[in-house]
Amino acid sequence: MRAAEIADQLSNVLVTEEQIAERLEELAAEVVTDYEGKDLLLVGVLKGAVMVMADFARKLPRDITMDWMAVSSYGAGTKSSGVVQIRKDLDTDLTGKHVLIVEDIIDSGLTLSWLLENFASRGAASIEVLALLRKPDAAKVEIDCRYVGFDIPNDFVVGYGLDFDERFRNLRDVAVLAPHVYS
Ligand code: XMP
Ligand code: MG
Repeated sequence: MRAAEIADQLSNVLVTEEQIAERLEELAAEVVTDYEGKDLLLVGVLKGAVMVMADFARKLPRDITMDWMAVSSYGAGTKSSGVVQIRKDLDTDLTGKHVLIVEDIIDSGLTLSWLLENFASRGAASIEVLALLRKPDAAKVEIDCRYVGFDIPNDFVVGYGLDFDERFRNLRDVAVLAPHVYS
């Protein structure tokens, strides 16, 4: 697809790559303070969190470890099913670990609430969540998310790791997907 065709499928840019970089810098400073003297394990949720993990982790001027989990709750559509499936589990034993889950977006919250419950049974010393984006108006369950990049309206967004049917993940900004693409 060429640039003009991509632009036709997007309504507007919601968060620019510069805004993301600036916000991740602020969150990194908070995390450094909050986890001083503690080992920190970042757990990225594949595939959407790849970009935020790569950029956020490199803004931390300290040692961390990193692991990945792949879950699915969406399929090819734009609505959460609430049915979560583990596609790839962690390689790390969470016992005694300070875990920070790194997510692209909290929409209904169903995926994270399932993940938090799953992690709680693995004996971590602490579990917190960092999400680049959050849609407060879409929440079906309340998620205690300690680090939020941006609260956004209840539109389907793509870019910076977020996809529609596996496309648009490599857009540098976060943009709203034009409704004609999925309706
Ligand atoms: P829930 O509803 O369980 O959603 O909080 C979690 C996962 O669903 C995906 N998701 C989106 N992906 N644009 C996307 O590209 C969106 O607007 C969107 N909303 C939810 C995402 O993978 C997230 O982790
Ligand atoms: Mg995701």
